[in-house]
Amino acid sequence: MTAPEETTFADLGKVLVIIPTYNEAENVERIVSRVRAAVPEVHVLVADDNSPDGTGDLADKIAADDDHVQVMHRKGKEGLGAAYLAGFRWGIDNGYDVLVEMDADGSHQPEELHRLLTALRTADLVQGSRWVDGGKVVNWPKSRLLISRGGSLYSRLMLNVPIKDVTGGYRAFRKDTLLGLGMDEVASAGYCFQVDLAWRTVKTGYKVVEVPITFIEREFGASKMSRNILVEALFRVTGWGITSRLHKITGGRLGTK
Ligand code: GDD
Ligand code: MN
Repeated sequence: MTAPEETTFADLGKVLVIIPTYNEAENVERIVSRVRAAVPEVHVLVADDNSPDGTGDLADKIAADDDHVQVMHRKGKEGLGAAYLAGFRWGIDNGYDVLVEMDADGSHQPEELHRLLTALRTADLVQGSRWVDGGKVVNWPKSRLLISRGGSLYSRLMLNVPIKDVTGGYRAFRKDTLLGLGMDEVASAGYCFQVDLAWRTVKTGYKVVEVPITFIEREFGASKMSRNILVEALFRVTGWGITSRLHKITGGRLGTK
């Protein structure tokens, strides 16, 4: 790379954008180049679960030409949560100070990343949010809107978490937030991983700021959301909610403020 790098967010330290992939061959090149163009100083880690469609090989080709891009090849499909946890651990071990979650399919726009990073200056977790003023979803069917809004509302009420988009997957953590919230005890594999991390962040007393994003449904490839993933989320959130209420009643300290 020849041009001197802009260091707009140098005050935050080193930033790693983690992009989990499973069968994202049509999307991986585009998303990585959009991230690199939008905020050139950030580094990217593609965490691929041995996608049968060759996403991992494509990512390797990008990484060969760009020293800001790394690829983590995982054994097989183990879920979004597991891929992120491995990515966080790798990032922290490799000296990154900020860890960003971003989907590969273009739903989370890299062009909005600077807004998340700016907000992180005065927060421990920034949540890109579809459900605050100014947030939007483009091209989702009614059914998916209902599932997402319902899931978010249920989680919020069950867990008493004051985050409107608690299931959202576009977010930026400070390293210390991840270390402090007990990242190594997280067992959620699927999408409830997002709720799990947000809840732990709030319980630990960290400051969460939501910034509005425009979420655009993917054009290429397919969503990996499944009935199993939904059922895992419903069971786990319900279990967490009941346990935390019992702790409150019995004077335990698990509940949120
Ligand atoms: N490595 C890996 N392993 N990546 C995965 C896996 C997995 O098992 N499952 C999904 N992914 C990747 C996808 O390739 C994509 O980059 C990202 O995770 C999100 O998956 P999608 O399948 O596109 O998710 P979605 O659009 O249905 O769900 C969105 O909404 C959820 C609910 O709000 C995402 O933004 C989720 O993050 C969010 O929780
Ligand atoms: Mn998607």
